[in-house]
Amino acid sequence: MEISGIDVKDLVEKYGTPLYVYDFQRMKDNAERLKTAFKSDTISVDIYYAMKANCHPAIVKLFWENGFGTDCVSPGELEVALKVGVNPENILYTGNYESLKDLSAAFKARVIINLDDIASLDRLLKVGKPERISYRINPGKGRGKYKEITTGGNKAKFGVPHEKSIVAYENALKAGIRRFGAHVMTGSGVLDEDHFPRMLNNFLDILGNIRHKLGITFEFIDMGGGFGIPYFEDGEALDIHIVGREVLRVFKKKVKELDLGNPTLAIEPGRYLVGDAGYLVSRVLGIKESYRKFAGVDAGFNTLIRPALYNAQHPIVIPGKENVEKKISINICGQICENTDIFAIDRMLPPLEEGDLIVFTQAGAYGSVMSMPYNLRLRPAEIAVINGKDVEITRRETMSDYFNRINL
Ligand code: LLP
Repeated sequence: MEISGIDVKDLVEKYGTPLYVYDFQRMKDNAERLKTAFKSDTISVDIYYAMKANCHPAIVKLFWENGFGTDCVSPGELEVALKVGVNPENILYTGNYESLKDLSAAFKARVIINLDDIASLDRLLKVGKPERISYRINPGKGRGKYKEITTGGNKAKFGVPHEKSIVAYENALKAGIRRFGAHVMTGSGVLDEDHFPRMLNNFLDILGNIRHKLGITFEFIDMGGGFGIPYFEDGEALDIHIVGREVLRVFKKKVKELDLGNPTLAIEPGRYLVGDAGYLVSRVLGIKESYRKFAGVDAGFNTLIRPALYNAQHPIVIPGKENVEKKISINICGQICENTDIFAIDRMLPPLEEGDLIVFTQAGAYGSVMSMPYNLRLRPAEIAVINGKDVEITRRETMSDYFNRINL
């Protein structure tokens, strides 16, 4: 198996396992495809890379250099975006239960602030008054691949309920703010093209109501991210060109119909840009014939938590056995002392042996960023393949990193 022209076995020999590997060319290709899909002669479109999907500075920089702004969620992410040179005007800060400290960091950095609640404005005004403000609005409906990643609707903790959105903007007007944006993000991992124009259509109706009641217009309207990628037995890839075409069509039509001014359309994809460019390479440590058949590997939910957290299923490749018949049904688990440390249940794979490499694909988004040193199994190295060369962009975590933070 090769990743962007480099044999996985060579990478393992050099850097060991478990190992995250990223194909930077794939990220660029994803970026280009997305840009083309959302290109318009009449509507100005801003794309913000949602760096929560993978906040490695080299990756944030790659998207900035390819024409994308950055969507940040915390002062830490903001610091990375600023450090790699993203222009503050191209940074959107969307927090959740933002503290005064969070708001102060965003305000001082002069980035675009998108508030999560009505009460957030009161807190923000304690640290300063920006010229422009945006709210994340919960339209009362949500859709995500799993309930855990559905971020809109009446069970979600995010955003201002749309019934209260008029009060939210009214308060901002009362505070003397005159420039506005609006934001929505209803869920992640969606593979249905129709969802996006439908969701936008509904959101624009909500904004039309605010426009009608308060007389304000919006400088930008951000419809969030959420563009899915297929995982194991998940069906087809999203046709992003259809999504772009239909979203732009709805945007143009409704903005005119509802007299919403001349807003920029913003999107903030994470997974779509990095998901399929990442691989988690690990090694089979032992095969156990218990009540069921297990292969234990040296990655676990400490390395990739998506299967344990959402029951997400990543495709698996066994390098060197790509053409061997998948005739064994097996459970793949990690070394963590928890029964939820399972990557796959009854997965059909080629016969496995101790020492085999096992690669989880589609691991570039919400992989390494959600890893942790539980059980003191430390975080893996990260390798980028750039122009056919491997570069260690994060070295493997060591026990001295751990002890550095500890006062004995
Ligand atoms: N913007 C906002 C405000 C968000 O909350 C999110 C994701 C995004 C953009 C990017 O969404 P994307 O394009 O990546 O779907 N850890 C989960 C995904 C959680 C997504 C949360 N918000 C997973 O591993 O599937």
